[in-house]
Amino acid sequence: MRLLMEEELFPSTPGKVKIERAHAFNRQFNRCFASTSTMFLWTLFLIALTVSYLSFKSFVDTGTHYFNLSAVSPSSRAWGGLQWEKHVRTSAQIRRSGGGSGGGASVLVTGAAGFVGFHVSLALRKRGDGVVGLDNFNSYYDPSLKRARRDLLAKSGVFVVDGDVNDARLLAKLFDVVAFTHVMHFAAQAGVRYAIENPASYVHSNVAGLVTLLEACKSADPQPAIVWASSSSVYGLNDKVPFSESDKTDRPASLYAATKKAGEAITHSYNHIYGLSITGLRFFTVYGPWGRPDMAYFSFTRNILQGKPITVYRGKDKRDLARDFTYIDDIVKGCVASLDTAGRSTGSGGKKRGAAPYRIFNLGNTSPVTVPELVGILERHLKVKAKKNVVEMPGNGDVPFTHANVSRARAQLGYKPATDLDAGLKRFVKWYLSYYGYNRKTGM
Ligand SMILES: NC(=O)c1ccc[n+]([C@@H]2O[C@H](COP(=O)([O-])OP(=O)(O)OC[C@H]3O[C@@H](n4cnc5c(N)ncnc54)[C@H](O)[C@@H]3O)[C@@H](O)[C@H]2O)c1
Repeated sequence: MRLLMEEELFPSTPGKVKIERAHAFNRQFNRCFASTSTMFLWTLFLIALTVSYLSFKSFVDTGTHYFNLSAVSPSSRAWGGLQWEKHVRTSAQIRRSGGGSGGGASVLVTGAAGFVGFHVSLALRKRGDGVVGLDNFNSYYDPSLKRARRDLLAKSGVFVVDGDVNDARLLAKLFDVVAFTHVMHFAAQAGVRYAIENPASYVHSNVAGLVTLLEACKSADPQPAIVWASSSSVYGLNDKVPFSESDKTDRPASLYAATKKAGEAITHSYNHIYGLSITGLRFFTVYGPWGRPDMAYFSFTRNILQGKPITVYRGKDKRDLARDFTYIDDIVKGCVASLDTAGRSTGSGGKKRGAAPYRIFNLGNTSPVTVPELVGILERHLKVKAKKNVVEMPGNGDVPFTHANVSRARAQLGYKPATDLDAGLKRFVKWYLSYYGYNRKTGM
């Protein structure tokens, strides 16, 4: 057997065997050498590939601060460095003594370049609180309006950090630089109808972003008290009016509403486990100067001035839709009062040391107005007749009416809405005409 095998391997002529063996050895050696050098080259190539991948990855990781990889926030990021830290510290400095929160507050305001966050930041700054803003300047609506708000805030000494609430490293850095006493959380994907187009943006900002922020707050030492924006939309398909905080909220009509409802549950769990002081505010259709272009009163104004038709939705039974429109100054008062009455968080080092407050308040106007009435008021202030296109409300998440019961906020916050829709829209129109430089004569 063994012989046979050798016969197969080696030729039978003995002299030839040596030569053949030598050739075979050479061939094998060459093959081996060739394959070793090929392997060597491949190894070099793979090492180079790994090194370039790792350096690219670390460049991207270092920051979320250099690139924003989120689909909803395309602007470039830049945070960190001594100069940046100095801006943050200066902006957070308290310039008053006394006041509701005893000695002034140092507040992180998320969504500060947004409509409500901008007004609240200005109000806090005006009374001498320290305010640092955070906003990702996403393009859900014209970011130039957000930048204009930011520039105005900068003039009042409020620095708005360009960043995402999902950026845990940025949040940790901010809490490292400043011992914030409060966080006012307004950053969110707002709007009901956009969820049909981009549902992921709601999960990104309103759920994941909220959890990232709460994680940062829970680990901060001292823990801040948190005031955050929920929404009247949590009342969903409820038909008992006015809406009260004690009503059930288990029938959301949109993904937006569902994420806000989720936010109330999530904040409750952080309150329960970590002792974070939580105040959730259910805003009812906020409007006013520097408002949100995606909202009806704003887009109606634009279209009416441009002579374009406006679409007015009506309920299935031909009933007009109605909203409890709430003027921004009233909302700001409610937010500031919430901050001033928020009890302290009790945890430290990620552990709860005692029970902390968990509060929910309606902030509305208590007097719903129908959409055709709103259009009538706008026509009067704009001095232009609207071209109305009345259609049945599509099933896209809108609810037929909202109406707030604010007795809890009145009792605990001293909240008392003072601006009716006519007076509020008058101020909005004045701002709109001056901001967009609209010339009534030329229509431009
Ligand atoms: N305006 C209303 O009528 C109304 C009603 C009910 C509830 N709310 C809630 O009030 C809050 C403020 O609303 P608004 O009208 O000022 O909206 P807004 O869109 O003007 O402001 C939100 C801001 O948050 C920023 N933002 C969004 N996602 C972010 C993220 N992941 N990281 C950092 N920044 C982010 C946006 O760029 C924007 O500037 C929101 O939570 C909204 O859901 C508003």
